Amino acid sequence: MENKEVLIQVKNLKKYFKVGRNSMLKAVDDVSFNIYKGETLGLVGESGCGKTTCGKTVMGLYEATGGEVVYDGVDIHSFNHREKKEFTKKAQIIFQDPYSSLNPRMTVGAIIGEGIDIHDLYKGKEREEKIFELLETVGLNREHASRFPHEFSGGQRQRIGIARALA
Ligand SMILES: Nc1ncnc2c1ncn2[C@@H]1O[C@H](COP(=O)(O)OP(=O)(O)OP(=O)(O)O)[C@@H](O)[C@H]1O
Ligand SMILES: [Mg+2]
Repeated sequence: MENKEVLIQVKNLKKYFKVGRNSMLKAVDDVSFNIYKGETLGLVGESGCGKTTCGKTVMGLYEATGGEVVYDGVDIHSFNHREKKEFTKKAQIIFQDPYSSLNPRMTVGAIIGEGIDIHDLYKGKEREEKIFELLETVGLNREHASRFPHEFSGGQRQRIGIARALA
């Protein structure tokens, strides 16, 4: 392929967790890769090898211990509040565990609507329609908007997480 445009450049990324008094767990240690526009990148490895930690650090949900995540020429870990908010319009995570990643006290409609509100994207009827549309996009239906996460199967919950990420 010619002219592949780099979307995200991960350079020598490190994420260490402090465990106990004076020991470090090197969950991600010197990882580098590029993600190109239009490309899907899969990260494969045994359980506990650091895939999720890598993803969360690339998204800025964890601060990096070292290295860079360059998006649009800038290290995402240097973003100020406004830049971070702008970045979250373009980059969203679907969490691995659909049980712990959805607030049990919020309806599915409220969960999906939250991102729409934070970014001030739609209001009123249009907002409601957008939520219904997203539910249908992920193979659920509009009646599900008034239900709570515990009323869904694991796979359906994961779809709610996908709709939220798309929102
Ligand atoms: N918040 C945390 N604090 C301390 N250690 C953590 C934390 N999160 C993950 N770890 C540890 O970091 C390592 C990598 O975990 P991670 O969740 O990134 O693995 P994974 O590759 O996504 O695994 P799986 O395939 O099981 O989802 C593991 O040893 C884990 O125990
Ligand atoms: Mg994982």
